[in-house]
Amino acid sequence: MQSDVQYTEHETVLSYAKEMSRDTGASRIVTSDTVGPVGLICIGNPPVNAISQSVRQGLVGAIAQAEKKPRIKVLLLMSRGDMFSAGADITEFDRPQGEPSFQQVQTRIESSPLPVVAAVHGLALGGGLELAMACHYRLAHKNAKLGMPEITLGIIPGAGGTQRLPRLIGARAALDMILSGTPISGLDAKARGLVDEVVESDLRDAALSFCERLAHDGTGPRPTCNRTVIDDLDETEIAAALLPHARVLKGRTTQNLVIEAIKAASLPFSQGIAIEAALAQKSLASRESLALRHVFFAERESVKLAGSSSADARQAQPAAIRRVAIIGAGTMGSGIAMACADARLEVLVNDDDPAALTRSRETIHSTYASSVKRGRITQGIADERVQRIRSTVALADVADADLVIEAVFEDMELKKNVLSKLDSMVPPQSLIATNTSTLSVTELARATAHPERVLGLHFFVPAHASKLLEIVRTGHTSPESLSTAFRVGKLLKKIVVVAGDGFGFIGNRMMLDGYWREAEQLLLEGATPAQVDTALENFGFAMGPQRVSDLGGNDVGTKARVQLFKRESRPDPYFVIADRLTEMGRLGQKTGRGFYRYESGSREAMPDPEVISLIEKLASERGILRRDIGDQEIVERCILSLINVGAMVLEEGIAARAADVDVVWTSGYGFPRYLGGPMFYADTLGLSHVLERIRHYHETLGHYWRPAPLIERLAAAGSNFGHWDKTSASR
Ligand code: 3HC
Ligand code: NAI
Repeated sequence: MQSDVQYTEHETVLSYAKEMSRDTGASRIVTSDTVGPVGLICIGNPPVNAISQSVRQGLVGAIAQAEKKPRIKVLLLMSRGDMFSAGADITEFDRPQGEPSFQQVQTRIESSPLPVVAAVHGLALGGGLELAMACHYRLAHKNAKLGMPEITLGIIPGAGGTQRLPRLIGARAALDMILSGTPISGLDAKARGLVDEVVESDLRDAALSFCERLAHDGTGPRPTCNRTVIDDLDETEIAAALLPHARVLKGRTTQNLVIEAIKAASLPFSQGIAIEAALAQKSLASRESLALRHVFFAERESVKLAGSSSADARQAQPAAIRRVAIIGAGTMGSGIAMACADARLEVLVNDDDPAALTRSRETIHSTYASSVKRGRITQGIADERVQRIRSTVALADVADADLVIEAVFEDMELKKNVLSKLDSMVPPQSLIATNTSTLSVTELARATAHPERVLGLHFFVPAHASKLLEIVRTGHTSPESLSTAFRVGKLLKKIVVVAGDGFGFIGNRMMLDGYWREAEQLLLEGATPAQVDTALENFGFAMGPQRVSDLGGNDVGTKARVQLFKRESRPDPYFVIADRLTEMGRLGQKTGRGFYRYESGSREAMPDPEVISLIEKLASERGILRRDIGDQEIVERCILSLINVGAMVLEEGIAARAADVDVVWTSGYGFPRYLGGPMFYADTLGLSHVLERIRHYHETLGHYWRPAPLIERLAAAGSNFGHWDKTSASR
């Protein structure tokens, strides 16, 4: 993140702050200085200036000291580093809040006899913005972003946010901002009355001038808590405010607490703040919040290798990445090219078929044109991105790439051939990646003379927009290669998880051996596609498995399964319905028929009696007597099978941490974030219960429900996946 703030007069303070580790003591985390009549108080708690207990102690101490100096007439609160503050320290949420509490600090600021000014740069999120709102005046740099993202963590703003924000911008606007969790710009904040001035130049200079003006004019404090809320919330307005967030908030409860708290802002401040405190406690203790905080930290942890190899990877230096070459200009190659161009990398796309290159350019143009049309990017940005992508039919042109991503047809011999040629072409420090989703990365790596620099970068469709990136390591992959792959993930703004090189890696393995397999079985046993999909969507999945299959193309699934099962020399007895639909040309939305039927130009999935007849026929051929199946059984079987295979994936070392599995499923497969991912969800169910139910299905449905030994061991020890993760360092 770039900061526009300059601290020219305080370089010594700055360099000192840079040396500080997090939370090494209140006095160093918060520093004070006097500039004319201004007492300048600076927070410096890297990396994100979280308002930890030490920061709170430091602030109270610095305010008290400044107030004692007769020369100081105004207090100015700023922060060092990239941002004002990312909010309260989330790592402190699971323990009692130490003194002074957030509210005590804010009361101290609000009741100061001196006017207190906050000058915001970078991000002011959650508690960071709440701190600024407790100040009497606020300035924001024009590039600043101010927001209340608490809802994404399943909590309500608990440091006065639900009480002060409505007092500053109105109840309806506050509700919108808190429900969306999305930050607004400095300019927008000014327009809404959240800040007094927007600064386009040097923030520190402008803030000091602002403070000097206050001192000169004798302008006093202006506590936000003394204001009244100008608008009331009625039920129609609440419904209208909830509507745009309905999809994201489906199945969630935090929004109800937010509404209750904002309604309380019309009461006297002391009453409103007490109600907020009680509701905040309730939200913090909720399962939803525990799950969402788990995913928040899991997504940040997944880029750190677990276990014995973590030290090597931490020390390994990633290679610099500027030029990326992509081999294969099909669906994936084109998407990956856009992901790289979006990250400002130079991209060269190679395909041996000139027509494929032309199609790819057309796809790239039309995708960017559609982003412009939807207002996501400007035409100028789209043009820049298009220009960053060049194409060539000559493989030799990629010789100076820092990273090559192979995305040619899914064929082992073809890929081996391409990778071995690339290996002899690109410089020794360049990383070579394959986007295979089914083949052995180890075997592909062995086709080169430098298997240590070969790994899998498993992108998902559409590669430019999907969040998840599985990095597939083999036994040969070097720590440097992994470290570079992490850098690539960060550059492309992907959520990265490291997977071992096994059947389907993490996500597809659990899908094919667990979740989807079970969904197909349920169809054969008596459920309908609509019933299975709706039950799982009601559980919280973004889209049920059959609707997903119709969207992606049943043929794509069939092709991938054939390859995958070939890799293991395993028979595939489970996907009979999907495969038959493919044979029949019922490929899904693209052909207007699949598990469902679709009217021309519509994406609405309509039940199709022909599919039900087909399922009945396939069931009868297998001697399966169809029966009524309840939604509860559908959900239980699909989720338990997911958990069971997840445990196998862990035990086999394909995933290093249960939290990694959760990240894969919440970011790549539509598992509800607010349930924390399958393994976290298993812990909330209790592993003894999970095991008991898996054993029940093992007895009633057969061998493929064999309980994962890891679940048996953890359940016997009264342990769980969370605990298993904590001990991962010793494995
Ligand atoms: N508390 C504690 N640690 C935090 C934190 C916070 N609020 N925000 C980020 N961190 C930590 C991360 O865990 C990570 O730690 P690590 O290096 O040990 O893994 C480190 O800071 C850097 O974070 P990112 O890797 O996420 O850095 P980015 O530059 O990609 O993103 C960010 C920065 C946009 C600020 C992102 O970290 C973020 O979204 N943070 C959370 C913001 C948030 O939700 N704030 C509200 C907190 S709740 C609150 O304030 C309650 C209040 O109402 C009382
Ligand atoms: P595609 O069929 O759309 O494109 C492949 C492209 O590779 C074609 O344009 C072809 O001309 C080109 N090609 C073939 N041989 C070549 C060579 N020797 N040199 C240069 N170019 C060559 O395939 P798609 O769907 O893009 O898949 C590519 C890879 O990505 C495959 O390994 C696939 O398994 C993987 N993948 C695909 C996903 C999907 O859903 N489509 C998802 C994740 C991974």
